[in-house]
Amino acid sequence: MSFRKDFIWGAATASYQIEGAAYEDGKGPSVWDRFSHEPGKILEGHTGDVACDHYHRFREDVALMKEMGVKNYRFSISWPRLIPQGVGEVNEKGVQFYSDLIDELIAAGIRPIVTLFHWDYPAALQARGAWENPESPKWFEAYAALCAERFGDRVKDFITFNEPQCFIGLGYGKGEHAPGYRLPLSSTVVMSHHVLMAHGLAVKALRKYAPGCRVGYAPCGDARIPASEDPADIEAARRAYFQVGDNPEGWAFNVSWWSDPPILGSYPEQGLRLLGQYLPQGWEKDLETIHQPLDFYCQNIYNGDVVRAADNAQGYEMVPQPVGHPKTAIQWPITPDALYWGPKFLYERYKLPFMISENGMSSHDVVSLDGKVHDPQRQDYMHRYLRAYKRAAEDGVDAIGYLAWSLMDNYEWAFGYTDRFGMIYVDYQTQERIVKDSFYWYKTVMEQNGENL
Ligand code: BGC
Repeated sequence: MSFRKDFIWGAATASYQIEGAAYEDGKGPSVWDRFSHEPGKILEGHTGDVACDHYHRFREDVALMKEMGVKNYRFSISWPRLIPQGVGEVNEKGVQFYSDLIDELIAAGIRPIVTLFHWDYPAALQARGAWENPESPKWFEAYAALCAERFGDRVKDFITFNEPQCFIGLGYGKGEHAPGYRLPLSSTVVMSHHVLMAHGLAVKALRKYAPGCRVGYAPCGDARIPASEDPADIEAARRAYFQVGDNPEGWAFNVSWWSDPPILGSYPEQGLRLLGQYLPQGWEKDLETIHQPLDFYCQNIYNGDVVRAADNAQGYEMVPQPVGHPKTAIQWPITPDALYWGPKFLYERYKLPFMISENGMSSHDVVSLDGKVHDPQRQDYMHRYLRAYKRAAEDGVDAIGYLAWSLMDNYEWAFGYTDRFGMIYVDYQTQERIVKDSFYWYKTVMEQNGENL
């Protein structure tokens, strides 16, 4: 046993992180265009104005994907590039860009997997209250319908949202991401409900205007890893994984609040006890819309926390990483077992075909004297994580795919260009692309369907 024969191997990116052309061809501003220009918000003041200039260089980038043997490419659409004011008039030049990209991918034998929303929210809608506005799910529905109408003839796989935990939790709770607000639970919980409504309405719109397409959803969450294979530790990790936290700023960073309603049709009970009082009036009747059939369930998983059973009220405790535990450049712990236990617990609970929609490593990559970029640490990271994921597949998880983050170095949000996650190095001064060693290594993994792991 190994990965299934039709396993979806590929790589991922997101619009604001690579496109650039922030003010070109009629694109409207997004909250990230605004936030990245606010003094002190982004490390070293970097902005996504130019990023990887993918908007102008996408043909070169698709050619590199082809050389790498990538057969599936996940990218996101910039909502304000398509609809500058968020609602209303369509920017045909924006439509043309994505249409050309999709054609180029298909001509190269690469399946496009389109994420509708990866955080670059239209600034015009932010001015109207964004996700707190009860109209906001309808705005997203109209945008989803447009994507389905214009691209659904060629795109067969859509993902509604990327990591709602982050754009709500970091954008409106902690204020570390755009638009940089620190709002109370009475706002962020309402927003979460509207995002879930928007997801449900978008699934319906996609199915209506792009009949036969497959639809998924890509939230995130640090996995929970049992300290041992003792059943008590496994149960402790499971319980911790699906717990909703009560920290007002950090409450959004959980799995079940965001995945139970769309997949199981109800909010988690323990979450409701904590947060139910902040939900908008009449939320119960929205659950039917939120709960739409999905074809696959994704998660972006980079690491996990170790948990063991404990004799306390919640029945578990976190086990701190030992001193010197390996970390990536962005300071995230390297915990390959996250890709065993995460998919296992998630599949057990949600029972949908499962895909890792992001996983990868930030490292301090440099161009060596020989002109190449050697990144053995990234290969080792991916090798270990993929072995754990393979074990999950062998243990019965219906693992349908793995999309590496990222195809190329890009704008790492509040960390600007200081973190490099790509398998293709980008020189931001010249826009030269240099393939890293991991590019060739991952090519062999994809070619051999992971048999060489
Ligand atoms: C996001 C990406 C981001 C990556 C690494 C995920 O949270 O979806 O946009 O670049 O992780 O931080």
